Amino acid sequence: MAIPVRPRLLAALAPTFLGCLLAQVTVAAGTPPKAFNLTWKSMNFKTILEWKPKPVDYVYNVEISSGSSDWKIKCFLTPNTECDLTDEIVQDVRRIYQARVLSVPRNNTYLGNPPLTNAPEFLPYRDTKLGQPVIKSFKQVGRKLNVTVEDPRTLVRRNGTFLTLRDVFGKDLSYTLFYRRDASTGKKEATTSTNNFSIDVDQGGSYCFFVQALINSRKINQKSPESITECTDQWRSIMGETLIIVGAVVFVVTIFIILLSIYLCKRRQSRAGQKRKETSPLRVA
Ligand SMILES: *[C@@H]1O[C@H](CO)[C@@H](O)[C@H](O)[C@H]1NC(C)=O
Ligand SMILES: *[C@@H]1O[C@H](CO)[C@@H](O)[C@H](O)[C@H]1NC(C)=O
Ligand SMILES: *[C@@H]1O[C@H](CO)[C@@H](O)[C@H](O)[C@H]1NC(C)=O
Ligand SMILES: *[C@@H]1O[C@H](CO)[C@@H](O)[C@H](O)[C@H]1NC(C)=O
Ligand SMILES: *[C@@H]1O[C@H](CO)[C@@H](O)[C@H](O)[C@H]1NC(C)=O
Repeated sequence: MAIPVRPRLLAALAPTFLGCLLAQVTVAAGTPPKAFNLTWKSMNFKTILEWKPKPVDYVYNVEISSGSSDWKIKCFLTPNTECDLTDEIVQDVRRIYQARVLSVPRNNTYLGNPPLTNAPEFLPYRDTKLGQPVIKSFKQVGRKLNVTVEDPRTLVRRNGTFLTLRDVFGKDLSYTLFYRRDASTGKKEATTSTNNFSIDVDQGGSYCFFVQALINSRKINQKSPESITECTDQWRSIMGETLIIVGAVVFVVTIFIILLSIYLCKRRQSRAGQKRKETSPLRVA
């Protein structure tokens, strides 16, 4: 029984062991491996550089520069495989940034140049992805449906205050509203270059809708994910709620009346019984 288990265990351990051995050998040879698969993860300007592999017996330095400026070390002697570069890239979101990851010994002393890998160029204004938009409020009055989209704050600052997405992108940012009347399948859309929609709808109709952000100047990463869907069935939901409450009240009152009448009935019966008991011995005597 134990015989088939051991080879399996060995087979499972072998890659770890080999990887360890390989890392030992490369470190011993004085050259930690290069980082690879450098990827920017950026949303609404929050920006993190990620790479591989997890280091064994060495660490990483991450450097960033824009244009002709010098390399600036951001994550120093880090054992992680990601580095938050938001602070740097929000200084000017219309600049192109270069970043690189250097593999260095833990004591940061090495002969010659450490192995390094360059990240793809990063232009925040063009490359940061748009987060999922949020419908802040909506209101349907008569033939008008008004929808307001939240304008999220970014980490980009100007004169000490944080800018919203709209502040950064201006009219380059638009929102599309996709809407349809409750039962119908025909989807309509409207676009605004503000955060407000005011669209014409059928009176009394109930509508479902979601929004999506879009940067007009972009070729890639142009659209955000879709917001969650909201519906203006407030009339029906108010009615529904009212009916449920009225129903509950009627139910409770009915039960109360039934219990009360049973109680009163019993009391009258027992009183009548007692009277009979009180009077009967007299009759017998
Ligand atoms: C590195 O990235 C490439 C493409 O970006 C992918 O095909 C490959 O699987 C990645 N390697 C690892 C080890 O994740
Ligand atoms: C730094 O670490 C490397 C590898 O771990 C080692 O070869 C080297 O001697 C160390 N240098 C100093 C100054 O400690
Ligand atoms: C809807 O928006 C329009 C245009 O902005 C405005 O005139 C109207 O008062 C708004 N209606 C409601 C109910 O907010
Ligand atoms: C920043 O503030 C200075 C003075 O406080 C002002 O002159 C400048 O216009 C402001 N810049 C922006 C972009 O608001
Ligand atoms: C958008 O709508 C909100 C709420 O209805 C209102 O406070 C805001 O002033 C409107 N903004 C514009 C640009 O119309």
